[in-house]
Amino acid sequence: MPVITFKGLKKSYGPVEVIHDIDLVMEDNEFTVFVGPSGCGKSTTLRMVAGLESVTAGQILMDGKEISHLEPIDRDIAMVFQDYALYPHMNVEKNMSFGLRLAKYPKAEISKRVNSVADMLGLKPLLHRKPGQLSGGQRQRVAMGRALVRDSSTLLMDEPLSNLDAKLRVQMRAELAIMREKIDKNIIYVTHDQVEAMTLGDRIVVMQDGYIQQHGTPQQLFETPANKFVAGFMGMPPMNFMDAMLVEESGSLMANGEGFSFQLNTLKNKHHLPASGEVILGIRPSALTPALAGDDSIENTLTLPIKICEYAGALSVLISEIKGSRVSIEVDSKNNFKAGDNIKFSVKPSDVYVFDRNTELAIY
Ligand SMILES: Nc1ncnc2c1ncn2[C@@H]1O[C@H](COP(=O)(O)OP(=O)(O)O)[C@@H](O)[C@H]1O
Ligand SMILES: [Mg+2]
Repeated sequence: MPVITFKGLKKSYGPVEVIHDIDLVMEDNEFTVFVGPSGCGKSTTLRMVAGLESVTAGQILMDGKEISHLEPIDRDIAMVFQDYALYPHMNVEKNMSFGLRLAKYPKAEISKRVNSVADMLGLKPLLHRKPGQLSGGQRQRVAMGRALVRDSSTLLMDEPLSNLDAKLRVQMRAELAIMREKIDKNIIYVTHDQVEAMTLGDRIVVMQDGYIQQHGTPQQLFETPANKFVAGFMGMPPMNFMDAMLVEESGSLMANGEGFSFQLNTLKNKHHLPASGEVILGIRPSALTPALAGDDSIENTLTLPIKICEYAGALSVLISEIKGSRVSIEVDSKNNFKAGDNIKFSVKPSDVYVFDRNTELAIY
């Protein structure tokens, strides 16, 4: 499958630039997920790849060949739309074969492709139904099927699960992961949902305001976020942030803030530390662990008043506050903490992220 490359890709609507100079390489047979908040430019980027939007500047290359001037039909690309865009008066079979019939494929070939894709997606019993007679999940599968019969090297999907209810979304997400194993294609998938991005993507592109914030594997983004935005976007409940001042005390690096004084891991790039010492610390809700009562030997502790306890089965999320900023802590529900408790938590130096307060870039 072709390698897809963006070189200095830009898009403007009138005087407003919405995609700013993006460079990116998506490797052969990779499942790439574009994720970011609504309006960050995910659909615009995908539609430029599909040929449904013109490119303002820069290039889109497939295996080194520029494709941005080609008509959509000539791009070796198929797309699944958010609203499925099925024809209501055609049955499933006709919907799936529409593009092939338009492109004047031989009847036998059309029938062979529709049958094999319908088989894979479990659509065989539904071939003669119209979209109005299908559930949301089935419609979604038909939209997928219509894209797959094209047999293109690259499949684009724009929020394909966002019209489904929560339970079905989780089920279809698993089906997508299974389908992915059966087809040999590049997939570019757009979603605003970081869980979908983490579970489906080989690599994730995090976008904000038309800029790429980071491109990497789910682990890379989760374990070594490039900046505060990525750190806060990937992971649920989101990472906690607290203001602190860095100081060196007898050889160790300390971060002091409201009600805490944490020892940090040695930072490799200490020369990137802001001269002012002003940083933001990032701590994931799962990295704060209740300290045992009476054990004063534990370092890096922080006592927090619990405002709310959200029970969620095996785990509960405690909500607290430091200087008006929300702090969430994920704990085993067996702890039986309740609102009104004051709990002492500890955190390992290796679990504390440090961000420059001005640039918001991570310092490792
Ligand atoms: N046809 C258009 N005309 C003008 N602005 C547009 C148009 N389409 C999208 N935009 C703007 O471009 C930005 C990116 O939009 P979009 O790619 O749809 O975001 P996303 O898919 O990430 O939610 C938004 O600010 C949006 O308002
Ligand atoms: Mg969109």
